[in-house]
Amino acid sequence: MASNTANHDDSSINTPTDEPNSPVEAVNNNEQCENGSECTTVDDVLADSESYYNNAKKYWSNVSPTVDGMLGGFGSISFIDIRGSEQFLKHLYKQKPAPGRKRALDCGAGIGRISKNLLLPFFEQVDLVEQDEHFCQTARTELADFGSKLGTVFNNGLQNFVPEQGRYDIIWAQWVLGHLTDEDTVRFLDRCTNALARGGMIVMKENFTTGDVVDVDRTDSSVTRPLVQMKQLLKQANMRVVKEQRQTSFPKELYPVYMLALRPTIKK
Ligand SMILES: C[S@@+](CC[C@H](N)C(=O)[O-])C[C@H]1O[C@@H](n2cnc3c(N)ncnc32)[C@H](O)[C@@H]1O
Repeated sequence: MASNTANHDDSSINTPTDEPNSPVEAVNNNEQCENGSECTTVDDVLADSESYYNNAKKYWSNVSPTVDGMLGGFGSISFIDIRGSEQFLKHLYKQKPAPGRKRALDCGAGIGRISKNLLLPFFEQVDLVEQDEHFCQTARTELADFGSKLGTVFNNGLQNFVPEQGRYDIIWAQWVLGHLTDEDTVRFLDRCTNALARGGMIVMKENFTTGDVVDVDRTDSSVTRPLVQMKQLLKQANMRVVKEQRQTSFPKELYPVYMLALRPTIKK
């Protein structure tokens, strides 16, 4: 996901600037589009999904394998981010049926920042999936101290990844779904549904725009969606929101970040 700052002026398409991009993105250097059929910019950007994914791949291959790199220069918010996630995750265990604590999957894991600080201390075993080969290597090295708690680090794009059926108690996707087209987001969530163990949940933690606007970042091939649009995609994927919370204490110039815990609407 691109520059993490958000522009609260919903009125028009924004011209991107030369500001550095950031996943923890400021509002905004990006182009904006009304959500709906009139929006040609988003359609245009996503029309050729192969180029869309290749462009993102190229972008991330030039990013340093550090926390600051993962968070587009906002590495200092990592601690607050993890603390917010930890509280959210713990609350999920009040739900019935509660998820297990055996296995988690970290999606778009980067160098394993979330696995290291949140998932590995909490679950017996954690797998990671990440499209950038060098980030995967860094994650394997960084997380080696966890021994066999570190499961498989899959080097794959989420648009192609098929998680093993019934394997995961929690599937965590953070600051990555903006890199998927709408269609691939729905398909990925659908495959994740199959990969959940009994009581399992998917957690997404993403930037969202305010209002009806989709922000497009051509530099790293990502979109920042309105929350309402994401909820439409969840409906298409037959997922329901069981808990929703906004991350607090992030710098004001960043997009609003929400955590959504999801369960399948229908049993497969
Ligand atoms: C903003 S970073 C976030 C990393 C990690 N989730 C975190 O919060 O520290 C986005 C990550 O998503 C990865 N990514 C981008 N597109 C992806 C895709 N289609 N499939 C899997 N990972 C992807 C990037 O390589 C990068 O590591």
